[in-house]
Amino acid sequence: MESVKVFEDAAATLEEKCSNLILSNKDIKRVSTILLKEIEIGLCKETNKIADIKCYPTYVRNLPNGKEKGKFLALDLGGTNFRVLLIQLGEATPEKEFASREFPLPDLIRNSSGEVLFDHIAECLALFVKEFKVDKEILPLGFTFSFPCRQEGLTKAKLVQWTKGFTCSGVVGHDVADLLQKAIHKRDDVNIKIMAVLNDTTGTLMSSAYKQPDCKIGLIIGTGTNACYVEKVENMELWDGESDNSNQCIVNTEWGAFGDSGSLEFIRTNFDRALDSTTPNCGKQLYEKMISGKYLGEIVRRVLVYLAKEGLIFNNSSYVRLLEADTFKTKLLSEIEEKPENDLSDCKRILEELGITNFSQEDCAKVRYVCQLVSKRAAFMVAAGVATLINKINEKHTVVAVDGTLYRKHPHFRHLMAQKIKQLIRPGLTFELMLSEDGSGRGAALVAAVADRMDREETNRN
Ligand code: GLC
Repeated sequence: MESVKVFEDAAATLEEKCSNLILSNKDIKRVSTILLKEIEIGLCKETNKIADIKCYPTYVRNLPNGKEKGKFLALDLGGTNFRVLLIQLGEATPEKEFASREFPLPDLIRNSSGEVLFDHIAECLALFVKEFKVDKEILPLGFTFSFPCRQEGLTKAKLVQWTKGFTCSGVVGHDVADLLQKAIHKRDDVNIKIMAVLNDTTGTLMSSAYKQPDCKIGLIIGTGTNACYVEKVENMELWDGESDNSNQCIVNTEWGAFGDSGSLEFIRTNFDRALDSTTPNCGKQLYEKMISGKYLGEIVRRVLVYLAKEGLIFNNSSYVRLLEADTFKTKLLSEIEEKPENDLSDCKRILEELGITNFSQEDCAKVRYVCQLVSKRAAFMVAAGVATLINKINEKHTVVAVDGTLYRKHPHFRHLMAQKIKQLIRPGLTFELMLSEDGSGRGAALVAAVADRMDREETNRN
């Protein structure tokens, strides 16, 4: 990356101090080469056990064919909030969103027990179906559960480990569909039948593939990051499901765990290491911790505190609140980088809100510079991942369905990523990034609808 000189004298040192956050093209290509090797290790039966990137096969295979009818629920769990969605499918309405609600998921619940978590979700589901007066119907539900799971079928997914700060006890090793279904039964006031459990990447891919058959990758850049892609069954030793005409299956890479055995140490910095040491899943999800929304703000905060202690920023200021973990949220990066270079008004407002006193215009420019470095590094890391998958799929044109708050809200992430992917893919290949807003939820409802139709067809045959 070209290093633009933005400040005079002291700032030259600031740039030097931050230089390890800058990735060269050589670094990025190396990330892509290692990632490809690690995906291959994950896909191979013999080496999967030791792989960082687990490449879980999913059981989502069939696309909607237009014959799905009725109301379907989706539950999307995997970030700071969870969402419930009701969609209607039918001839006149190919896909109509009926209603949706977002429910906050306080830290207290994210770090409690599985029972508390699933009881809470079941309660919100019940409130939702009562509010929209569908509580008397039997509603098929698609459950987007965005954590690494070993699937044993469309409705059976055992949690392998928690990520993104969740730590609820009694869930790892258990089937999450079963835990949710039990919590729903226990209430005995609603009629909801779980038809499918899927990852958010799969939901995103499915909801876009429904409209765009060239869509072969589902990507999330939100609280966490992950990608799934369409792989040929012949390359997928781990596949033990049925083979149908398509001979393809969706692989949930769980690439957030890339680097967990040390392969990213050549670019990780002390800021990344210090942040990791404070997380409940220390040593895990190291790629994710350089990229996603749960972590970018905290990386910026750590860099700023370091620079302040070195006397390179906030020299005449008090910045006590900035010393507290998680005070600098990732959404601030988006807000600070939004306006043109010479307009630092948002940055000024944000520093004031953070209780920083007496800062200068140059301090604002430095804060913005740090945000840009951290965002750019994240965008380039994801670009390396996406380019690796596009090259692996090796089709003339690949559509990538993308969702996630960081991707949607950040003013430059998309452009930075696209630019870098272009440089990294094989000549002759082309790609398109397609925003799939709320794709993970809608995808789950669609998958539930297909499963429901297939069940009915089966019943009619017998
Ligand atoms: C984390 C989860 C993964 C999910 C991703 C995006 O990496 O482990 O399952 O897809 O976050 O939400």
